[in-house]
Amino acid sequence: MKTSRILVAIFSYFIVFTSNAQNKVVINAAAAKDTINKNIYGHFAEHLGHCIYGGFYVGDNNKKIPNKNGIRLDIIDALKKLKVPVLRWPGGCFADTYHWKDGIGPKSQRPSMLNLWWGNVKEDNSFGTNEFLNMCEVLGAEPYLSGNVGSGTPQELADWVKYTSHPAGSSPMPELRAKNGRQNPWKVKLWGLGNEAWGCGGNMTVDHYADVYRQYATFMTDWNNSDGLYRIASGASDDDYNWTEVLMQKLPTKMFDALGLHHYSVIDWNKKGSSTEFSESEYFTTMQRALFMEELVTKHSAVMDKYDPKKTKSLSVDEWGGWYDVVKGTNEAFLFQQNTMRDAMIAGTTLNTFNNHCDRVKMANLAQIINVLQAVILTNEEKLVLTPTYHVMEMYNVHQNAVMLPLKVNSDNYQFEGKSLPAISASASRDKNGAIHISVTNIDASKEQKISINLGDIKTSSSSAKILKSAKLQDYNSFEKPKNIVPTAFSNYKINGNELEITLPAFSVAVIELK
Ligand code: AHR
Repeated sequence: MKTSRILVAIFSYFIVFTSNAQNKVVINAAAAKDTINKNIYGHFAEHLGHCIYGGFYVGDNNKKIPNKNGIRLDIIDALKKLKVPVLRWPGGCFADTYHWKDGIGPKSQRPSMLNLWWGNVKEDNSFGTNEFLNMCEVLGAEPYLSGNVGSGTPQELADWVKYTSHPAGSSPMPELRAKNGRQNPWKVKLWGLGNEAWGCGGNMTVDHYADVYRQYATFMTDWNNSDGLYRIASGASDDDYNWTEVLMQKLPTKMFDALGLHHYSVIDWNKKGSSTEFSESEYFTTMQRALFMEELVTKHSAVMDKYDPKKTKSLSVDEWGGWYDVVKGTNEAFLFQQNTMRDAMIAGTTLNTFNNHCDRVKMANLAQIINVLQAVILTNEEKLVLTPTYHVMEMYNVHQNAVMLPLKVNSDNYQFEGKSLPAISASASRDKNGAIHISVTNIDASKEQKISINLGDIKTSSSSAKILKSAKLQDYNSFEKPKNIVPTAFSNYKINGNELEITLPAFSVAVIELK
């Protein structure tokens, strides 16, 4: 009897010990070979709600909000700190209704249109190509233009390429550019050929889109010369692997560089739920959707691998993020939502996925940068708030252009009502100065997690760390309390030889630097 009790005790200890020790990360720095393209930290700005108008652009004659040529200076300042590498514009669904020539020349002569997709509001075209590309120069961000393939013409798109990128004197388009005050081209490299061609971009079948793509791509350059352009085909929605398969089969290899992919973490398209007042059940489902990105990227990459084993083509996740109901009292079509610690968890886990798949994922664009969906900045007149998502992206920007260190994660479960998700996600990189950065998230809604990270042969003599955490998952930065959630120094870790032991609070994200 006594012996069996002892055995049970030993056995229980063993179970507890092993379950406590489940969060294991093993970094294999010797196997590092791929670079995390900084464009994985990209953003997206659409003519939607107050992303452009009342967001970036407050009007040329605005005396209330400090601006230069109508562009808000506090936004530029915050986005420079974020190191925004690339900005996609002007849509989204808007892109396939947009005729770029309406948005150039003297503003008083620009025609107005109705923004069909986003509330039928008046679009006066006061923010157009010159304004966007000049703003990208100020931001130090690479522009990514979404061409109108749904309702435009191949000629219109070809002209846009010439207007933005061809040298002076080469065709009538550069002359038009010079007339509008810009002699030298901006030289735009990244071009999207339509957006969501399977939906708002024309409701096309993939076979039809592949043919349309080939036609548009042909006239953007000549057949044998990519003109230095990087052409991105409108990619699949979520798990439509057939879309990726058909495009890989049908697009001639010299006519494209990347396929897009869109995935939103939405609970239910008919019942998205509040962005701030959500239950743990809603949180759990959101995280299920967010972690699905790992499977999506893996499986779309596997399809691409069949046709492109050397990975010369990339996957551009050019729309991703959380999507909830709009804040009460705001225009339904403007997609204005708050941003809580739940969004910080979406950002932390998704960026880890992109880092770990950087051999195939070379660009991603969070939807959207200001005042729309999972924004990094929210504005209300002259007030501005940096969201928890902003802080995660800033903490993680150390990974931009660093060499990814492959790792294996063995995670404990975050359990909720009989369902479970891995609590831990992680990614690691070595920057050009040799510093190592490890980003870790714990999505568990109530349990801290002890994580043991095996550093292998990484040598370290100093370390520092930052954490983003808060008392409640539903916490956010409001216009009244804009600094409610900010990154703080993190010290709950220790290094013993090549083992890094971390205790990460519930729903938090940390970045550790080792030198
Ligand atoms: O980001 C909002 C919308 O979501 C985009 O316009 C569209 O591409 C997607 O469906």
